[in-house]
Amino acid sequence: MGQALRHKILSVLLEDRSNFLSGEEISRKVGVSRAAIWKHIEELRNEGYEIDAKPRKGYRLIYRPDRVATEEIKNELQTENFGQHLRYEPVAKSTQILAHQWARAGAEEGSLVIADEQQEGKGRLGRNWHSPPRTGIWMSLILRPNIPIQQAAHLTLLASVGVCLAIRRTTKLPVKIKWPNDILIEGKKVCGILTELRGDQDKINYVILGIGINVNQEPDDFSSELSDIATSLSIEGKTKYSRATLIANVMKELEDYYQLYLYKGFDPIRIKWESLSGLIGQKITARTPQSLIEGIAESLNSDGSLLIRTNTDNVTIYSADIKI
Ligand code: BTN
Repeated sequence: MGQALRHKILSVLLEDRSNFLSGEEISRKVGVSRAAIWKHIEELRNEGYEIDAKPRKGYRLIYRPDRVATEEIKNELQTENFGQHLRYEPVAKSTQILAHQWARAGAEEGSLVIADEQQEGKGRLGRNWHSPPRTGIWMSLILRPNIPIQQAAHLTLLASVGVCLAIRRTTKLPVKIKWPNDILIEGKKVCGILTELRGDQDKINYVILGIGINVNQEPDDFSSELSDIATSLSIEGKTKYSRATLIANVMKELEDYYQLYLYKGFDPIRIKWESLSGLIGQKITARTPQSLIEGIAESLNSDGSLLIRTNTDNVTIYSADIKI
């Protein structure tokens, strides 16, 4: 109850940050006494919000800390469904684990788990994913698409399109997709996506899209190993970004592209992916478990695999490390 009330008070203060709002007005909008408002304002201050209070004028929000707690996200969401059911944890082992538990317990499509810090963040191919507190976006989205299991790769590619567009919209940075779904700036990784699914035979039960975005890390936050291959939006854009705004924008783009996919199929996603990847037409080297393939990236196939034209042949790859 206390948290819900704080959330309401915060929403009211966020509506107009340039003018004072009297305690009376806030108490009317929120539906509690002025004394209760004062108590919750104190609690918001303890959470890092700076709120100016003047006798006979009221309250005004001056500084909003960069938090990813539920009330911050809810204030920004413009979706019908994605992120509306939200679970936030200050610290989690991995949001993937929590999302699997929630999905098994019946969570509906669009439910989202966010953590401020992950202690055992999971990357693709069994790698670790460095997920320190207060700087990044570590979240897992639950989907229940009614599509054959063989088409699950479409969702991974769709996710990279949505996240790439949301980062571009929020930061104006020239991020690109690297096949299948890393998001890079000038060749360094700012975002990784891990898709996990459960199903039987040919039916998907649920899919978890795990999304990790390096947002406000400083150069010192990356080990020397990592700083050769990874960067943050803040390092590249030379400014800090609101993680809550970026999460809300990611949810909006993902919801829109997911709807488009369900109505129109993979073709519009494929075309958008090609334009955001900057890969098509480039000379690339693809390292697969079996071989090294050199050639020109020709196109994304309708099953999500990549077609490479070599000197002698056309080769389709399903999984590889790509170098441009
Ligand atoms: C990759 O290896 O590129 C994928 C990284 C995916 C990381 C995200 S962070 C949120 C979610 N929880 C995890 O443990 N992993 C994913």
